[in-house]
Amino acid sequence: MRARWRPRVALGTMAGMSDQAPEHSPVELYRLLANLIREGRVEEVRPGRPARCRVRAGELLTNWVPWISLAAGGGQQTRHWRVPAIGEPCLLFSPEGDLGQASALVGSFSEDMPQGSESADVERHDFSATDYWEHNRQDDTLVLDIAQAITLRVGTSTLHITPEGTTLTTPEYTVDSAQTTFTGAATVEGLFTFNAGIAGKAGASGKNSVQGGMDFEGGQINHDGKNIGGTHAHPDPHGGNTEGPQ
Ligand SMILES: [Fe+2]
Repeated sequence: MRARWRPRVALGTMAGMSDQAPEHSPVELYRLLANLIREGRVEEVRPGRPARCRVRAGELLTNWVPWISLAAGGGQQTRHWRVPAIGEPCLLFSPEGDLGQASALVGSFSEDMPQGSESADVERHDFSATDYWEHNRQDDTLVLDIAQAITLRVGTSTLHITPEGTTLTTPEYTVDSAQTTFTGAATVEGLFTFNAGIAGKAGASGKNSVQGGMDFEGGQINHDGKNIGGTHAHPDPHGGNTEGPQ
């Protein structure tokens, strides 16, 4: 269906908006239309507040203009911060064709700044050449791969992961598992308590060692099947057994 010309006043106006269209020459109109949306590349960035970038669109280099982020809900709600890369492709949206009011929308892949995956099942966020997270809908997997360190913090609890080691700092730590195995040595700096028995064997040295005294209460202490505890007795050469140890 062909669009019908209608007087501008019939299109509806907003408060403060003139119902008289400004006079423009065809050349001027063409320029405004061409400037409404332009393709460009980010040439400079200024992260300080207010964050701005300058965009190269052909011969034109814009003034400092804002870029459009994923979210800008302020400090109390969702906001997303990411400074565009130098050379990143973008679209310039200029209200009324005025490049002075332009905003830059980044997010179009290009040959020199290509996509990070070729899978329809993958959602992936690359932070750098080494760091990324990737979710695979088909496999139900999430990978977070960071080269130097990850810190997870909830209040006073922190899990700090680095290539050299991992530290969990938390007021109380519970492993709720039927079986736990440490494949290497384990050191307990605090009181070591066991409530359901203890069983083990010596390591390469062939013996176990305890420094300091040890008290046994109840039960019986055996060595190679013989009672060596507080109730043991020795055969008496005069017949019978001796009394227990003093
Ligand atoms: Fe004895």
